[in-house]
Amino acid sequence: MTTPQKTDRNWTPGSWRQKDILQNPTYPDQGRLDTAEKILSKQPPLIFAGEARQLQGALTKVADGKAFLLQGGDCAESFKEFHANTVRDTFKVLLQMAVVLSFAGSMPVVKVTRMAGQFAKPRSSSTETVDGVTLPAYRGDIVNGSAFTKQKRTPDPMRMIRAYNQSASTLNLLRAFAQGGLADLHAVHSWIQSFVKGSRATQRYQDLANRIDNALTFMETCGITADNTPRIKETTLYTSHEALLLPYEQALTRRDSVTGDWYDTSAHMLWMGERTRDPDHAHTEFFRGIRNPIGIKCGPTITPEEVLRLCDVLNPHNKKGRLTLIVRMGANAIGKVLPKLLRSIKQQGRHVIWSSDPMHGNTIRTAGYKTRAFNNILQEIKIFFAIHKSEGTHPGGIHLEMTGKDVTECLGGSQEITADRLADRYHTFCDPRLNAQQALELAFLVADTIKTQASK
Ligand code: PEP
Ligand code: CO
Repeated sequence: MTTPQKTDRNWTPGSWRQKDILQNPTYPDQGRLDTAEKILSKQPPLIFAGEARQLQGALTKVADGKAFLLQGGDCAESFKEFHANTVRDTFKVLLQMAVVLSFAGSMPVVKVTRMAGQFAKPRSSSTETVDGVTLPAYRGDIVNGSAFTKQKRTPDPMRMIRAYNQSASTLNLLRAFAQGGLADLHAVHSWIQSFVKGSRATQRYQDLANRIDNALTFMETCGITADNTPRIKETTLYTSHEALLLPYEQALTRRDSVTGDWYDTSAHMLWMGERTRDPDHAHTEFFRGIRNPIGIKCGPTITPEEVLRLCDVLNPHNKKGRLTLIVRMGANAIGKVLPKLLRSIKQQGRHVIWSSDPMHGNTIRTAGYKTRAFNNILQEIKIFFAIHKSEGTHPGGIHLEMTGKDVTECLGGSQEITADRLADRYHTFCDPRLNAQQALELAFLVADTIKTQASK
């Protein structure tokens, strides 16, 4: 066993408990919380340290500008909407997007899901009042229920066990899909073809789809087939979620027997949300000690000083692939804020991955629904790419809320979803997601942006 790094000396999986914390639920029964934590701490890890290190390696390539990160999935997973087909459909869309992006950018795409653990949600207010009745806000199925009753809204620590079990089942499915033949490049390409045929924007996408087709035929002509090249029929998919609920994350944090380092085994990659990234608070303290690759959401108010401080605390050895800065500023603010950040990080020689979350800064309310317009989402990504081009930095990835289902939660896209159609299939438990068509369409349009930039 190697000696843990010097900077970790004062860190333990529970040292966050000495710090101020935001967004933490108040559990009414401490004994029940202790029991739930004890049960969880005896459960097997969901991921292994070696896998997190493998992701770290893949992300090192992203940091070097030699790979692209695609992170996507639910805003919030739920107990009620858990079905194998839902997991499969999101998996299928992610894979198609990855093929499109990889082909356009001529680089590998590192696939990371927002699934198998994405349950806890930060809230702008800790309570909700309806008709004069005030109850705790819904904080995701891992904490309480969404129904507006006192019983459902009271945080129940045993929900953590159910979330753990559901995450284990989801991960089991994802691993089976990734290795069991569903990821075959030919199958993925045939799904892309049917998307192109069914899409109203057919002409725009046909060209890229044809070129993928030609590439596959050429590979076959050269004798590269799924039978002799396992990589054609298998893929690697990693998991991620916002590590918001620290009692849960702590209980799944284990010391790796190979290196002696600590890993949060609840997912391969964890990120810190916009509301909980204070460098002096509990979440930063927790993230400091785990060796998984980590993300930090960067909203429009973040300053270069704050980012540098977070880099100091979370990545003191300036390791490539360790930190992904997930920019979620909104199409209107990104042009003003991002260039300053890029410059100061570059000037200080810090290694980070820049990824664009074009969802969380573009949320609006229309017709009584929280929604996002496809064009604003696309616009933020385009500006993100353009800024990187002019600053000479690598636009490392995108981070999306999306689903494989045909929901009507975001406006626009070639299906031209209008405000009056949001009610048709608005199924999200939290934020509005791109549906399968919109997500794939976005991948094609991002592919366009990548190609255009490469040719400039
Ligand atoms: C989220 O990713 O669902 C989220 C709440 O994001 P943010 O912390 O950026 O608001
Ligand atoms: Co969200």
